[in-house]
Amino acid sequence: MAGKVRVAIVGLGFGAEFIPIYQQHPDAEMYAICRRNKAELDACGDQFGVAKRYTSYEELLKDPNVDAVHINSPIPDHAKQSIAALNAGKHVACTVPMGVSIEECRQIVEAQKKSGRTYMMMETVVYSREYLFAKDLYDRGVLGRIQFLRGSHQQDMHGWPHYWPGLPPMWYATHCVSPCLAILSDPEKGKAALAESVVCHGSGRISDDLIKHYNSPFAIESATFKIKGSDVVAEVTRSLFDTARQYRESFDVTGSNVSFEWQQVEGEDPVLHMRGLPEHQIPRRVKVPDFAGRLPEGIRKFTGAIHDATHLSFLQGAGHGGSHPHLVHNFLMAVLGKQPAFPDAPTSANWTMVGICAHESAMKGGTRVEIPQL
Ligand SMILES: NC(=O)c1ccc[n+]([C@@H]2O[C@H](COP(=O)([O-])OP(=O)(O)OC[C@H]3O[C@@H](n4cnc5c(N)ncnc54)[C@H](O)[C@@H]3O)[C@@H](O)[C@H]2O)c1
Repeated sequence: MAGKVRVAIVGLGFGAEFIPIYQQHPDAEMYAICRRNKAELDACGDQFGVAKRYTSYEELLKDPNVDAVHINSPIPDHAKQSIAALNAGKHVACTVPMGVSIEECRQIVEAQKKSGRTYMMMETVVYSREYLFAKDLYDRGVLGRIQFLRGSHQQDMHGWPHYWPGLPPMWYATHCVSPCLAILSDPEKGKAALAESVVCHGSGRISDDLIKHYNSPFAIESATFKIKGSDVVAEVTRSLFDTARQYRESFDVTGSNVSFEWQQVEGEDPVLHMRGLPEHQIPRRVKVPDFAGRLPEGIRKFTGAIHDATHLSFLQGAGHGGSHPHLVHNFLMAVLGKQPAFPDAPTSANWTMVGICAHESAMKGGTRVEIPQL
């Protein structure tokens, strides 16, 4: 398509963080917002100056002025809203996860193919400055050969909205799965590293009032998965309830020359381990650079690069490692046909299904589960 992409944002909790970024992107028109509660919808529209407002998602999809929807609704709605939008001829950006079953992932991949529209899962980690730093080191040959990958995402979700209590940890695993596969991918050359099978063990037990929601008993799920056409194995760990751990979204790459370890404690700089140095010189902390230079000038500030208190209201979208403006930019460029969506629909499905199949494996006592190739 040509001209500015007219975007509608659906779900205005987390979703509201993206409004000012679209408003300041040169190729977007922040056209409409949607949530069911009219008072909250109006409060958000007034705050950001968005005139077109919908309380009904179905009505929004009938609006011919909407080119693209960016879905930030509760997890159980992601798949059906994505499929409805693709069938209505809209481009779709959807927050993680793509869906909660293999069937949902399959239907989105099919709807995307049939519609010819863009689908992109808005995975924040693969646009965070820490991931972009590790990817850059790997692509420039600094890490050497990748020997092992490890992701972990630990979060205490007590008190979060109704769909969270008792959610199987691996159903929300894309934050730790995605960097392990993305680092071995090259979307510009059409190369996506995909997982082919997974083995997962469940450990510990959450309280009975949590278990009853999804019949998922484990406090921690820990999986290893094989990567198609590669000898590298990745390991991922997830927890959501009844586990003492500060929030951690982390990613480690073990290389033959240099290894990268992201995070132990919030706020600490990552560590590089250099092979061949005297033992005490092997690890060193690094300041991760900002990758705002890859973005149009108007949205660079949303990576969090500018720490000016007077700009705070504009910096609302600077969370998750500065990833939000990168996600918006990549999605818009994909809609405009200037670069591939990353992750596209089949890749999003693979990243999501690692977790779905991992939970299945854990429930079967750790048997290997093949991941369907869509
Ligand atoms: N790092 C990340 O990628 C990241 C971070 C935070 C949240 N998320 C995802 O974003 C989503 C939203 O998170 P949240 O914390 O804002 O959730 P939330 O439940 O607080 O908010 C959901 C929003 O969707 C709206 N909504 C619900 N059903 C709707 C419908 N049928 N039509 C239109 N609007 C509808 C609600 O009114 C609300 O504004 C979740 O799926 C979560 O997984 C991702």
